[in-house]
Amino acid sequence: MKEFDRHRRLRSTSNLRDLVRESHLNKDDLIMPVFVDENLSSGKVEITSMPGIYRFSLANVLDEIKEIVDLGIKSVILFGIPINKDEVATQAWDDNGIVQRAIRKIKTNYPDLIVIADCCLCEYTSTGHCGILSDNGRVLNDESLEYIVKTAVSQTKAGADIIAPSNAMDGYVSAIRAGLDKEGYIETPIMSYAVKYASSFYGPFREAADSAPAFGDRKTYQMDPANRLEALREVASDEKEGADFVMVKPSMAFLDVMREIRNNTNLPLVAYNVSGEYAMVKAAAANGWIDEEKIVNEILVGMKRAGADLIITYFAKDIARKL
Ligand code: PBG
Repeated sequence: MKEFDRHRRLRSTSNLRDLVRESHLNKDDLIMPVFVDENLSSGKVEITSMPGIYRFSLANVLDEIKEIVDLGIKSVILFGIPINKDEVATQAWDDNGIVQRAIRKIKTNYPDLIVIADCCLCEYTSTGHCGILSDNGRVLNDESLEYIVKTAVSQTKAGADIIAPSNAMDGYVSAIRAGLDKEGYIETPIMSYAVKYASSFYGPFREAADSAPAFGDRKTYQMDPANRLEALREVASDEKEGADFVMVKPSMAFLDVMREIRNNTNLPLVAYNVSGEYAMVKAAAANGWIDEEKIVNEILVGMKRAGADLIITYFAKDIARKL
């Protein structure tokens, strides 16, 4: 009589464990973030809270892109830091903005690399908010859509392969879809930051991109971390509006949401392993408290197990080196 199940049977050797492994990291799944800083005339500057991650000058961005391509990574997501900021984020949608110039340069030299343009206003507004403000300091939804559409169109015109709107305004997917279609860009996919929480895990990014709000917070447009059903509503809206990918961001504290979204949509699902998640691992590893390589693998494979198809991660190059 069988008295208990012998689960250890399938764990007895390394090869056997490989044979029954359910989730895998693939180079094809990785998206590497790249920061391009107009304030730098040459070289690169390391981001203090993100060791190993740099802001690149336009003159030197191809050094980083070459390394990424040589490692076999197929996709990057670009963020720009402009010299000039104003209330309507002019440099976000200027055809000669830093990101537009970076896209043209990268696509000219590496036409096969998939260039995703993060489409937001916060790096470009003097207020540090992701939209346009009313006189009493409220982030206006519909007025902000006009500017996010202009940004998406100019990024696409510059050669971006995928537009990734992250300013969390209602209706941005349908507005951008209409704006792109009107210009003839019917083939350009939209990767929506559909489930974007108002998270403290973005702290290091805001240093990197110089995009912290000058006052207040983002809680009227980004989601409350306590909410799960709201995430399902956000994805349902973006799907209806025409999103081609949906994202959950951040990742580590939201794997339950990731799984739930995976079970509720047939769209490709993207996990954003954000700056604070990177910084925590790096800090602990620098102290010798954890084994960085093993921890990173465990964190990222956890995202795959939770249902993510793609992962945006500052660890992309490190992982690609090992795969
Ligand atoms: C732009 C944007 C942010 C991130 C990606 N796009 C910051 C924010 O919403 O404040 C965060 C990425 C990270 O922390 O790695 N809105």
